[in-house]
Amino acid sequence: MGGDVFGRELRLISFGESHGKVVGAIIEGVPAGLRLSEEDVQRVLDLRRPGQSHLSSQRAEEDRVEVLSGLFNGYTTGAPLCMIVRNLDVDSSYYGEFRRFPRPGHADYIASVKYGGYNDHRGGGRFSGRVTVSMCMGGAVAMRLLERLNVEVIAYSLEIGGERAKDFTLEEARAYRYLNPVRAPNEESYLRMAGAIEEARREGDSVGGIVEAIALNVPQGLGEPIFDTIEGDLAKAMFSIPGVRGVEFGSGFRAASMRGSEHNDPMRIINGKIRYVKNDHGGAIGGITTGEPLVIRVAFKPTPSIAKPQDSVDLEMLRDVEIKVKGRHDPCIVPRAVVVVESMLAFTLADHAMRCGLIPSVMR
Ligand SMILES: Cc1cc2nc3c(=O)[nH]c(=O)nc-3n(C[C@H](O)[C@H](O)[C@H](O)COP(=O)(O)O)c2cc1C
Repeated sequence: MGGDVFGRELRLISFGESHGKVVGAIIEGVPAGLRLSEEDVQRVLDLRRPGQSHLSSQRAEEDRVEVLSGLFNGYTTGAPLCMIVRNLDVDSSYYGEFRRFPRPGHADYIASVKYGGYNDHRGGGRFSGRVTVSMCMGGAVAMRLLERLNVEVIAYSLEIGGERAKDFTLEEARAYRYLNPVRAPNEESYLRMAGAIEEARREGDSVGGIVEAIALNVPQGLGEPIFDTIEGDLAKAMFSIPGVRGVEFGSGFRAASMRGSEHNDPMRIINGKIRYVKNDHGGAIGGITTGEPLVIRVAFKPTPSIAKPQDSVDLEMLRDVEIKVKGRHDPCIVPRAVVVVESMLAFTLADHAMRCGLIPSVMR
């Protein structure tokens, strides 16, 4: 029972429901002496917040973080960090009906089966995108820890509604991704992706897509084979984000149709260092980071709550019904998920860096 804890040395505990009092996180195992402010956390939360453009849910949450413990005089104390944001803009009026007429594609039906009907279903409860607030809280702390190792994580929308970004550099993606509401890596792809979301929204429908994330300056040797490989733990981290349908590393599923001579990354001595001259392996071999950029792609399904009529069932009368989902929903999850992917990537790397002893228990 219970699956709300992630990580080994650095542990993220997620709590709260979409329309309950708060959502939040307890982060345990954080070294003492890490310089951290509420603003560091707020900056990450602001990138996830709904209601920032007509392309996302109009739920207008301020999402102001309150750190309740573990922080003193601007430094972590080594005790558990507990953080919350309050749920202020709560409108549960539409959600009562989902208990009786579950949304296909959402967890309404199967959650009530699993928890015997005791789960807080309002706003999707624990199955709402709102629980990703706790992931961003963990991510904000992890990003500060990773600064010590000079590790940088960069994620962006690679594809939305079949519109794939092209002709961009990593420098462009780094600079542009948070300057546009779709989190595209360049302007040309932003316009195409925004068009796809807008078209789906007009039709009362939704679209999915792919987030690509890259971690730079990752030390060699992160990952604990055979069961805690870096890809295994990252896949677990990514599959905890609601709406995720697939995760691939490096060449990913494309590797299945390549020849070994094509897929293997040739090795050379460059400036006295052992390097791979290309990166189809995506930064990990044998479940261990190689020091090349870690490249991960995460596929998201289209948002399940759509205005278009759908077939569902009446759980009281046991008959077929047609439903239309009202309420405030994202026509596409992907833009708001980009910083969540960055956060879970950072958290997993920070946990593994601690497991390898690369981050001390007291930061000096
Ligand atoms: C940032 C974010 C926002 C989301 N917003 C919505 C939403 O507005 N409406 C909705 O039906 N699902 C939304 N989801 C997806 C559902 O939470 C998810 O599909 C549901 O919990 C079922 O889980 P599964 O898709 O992982 O199987 C969102 C997910 C994320 C990560």
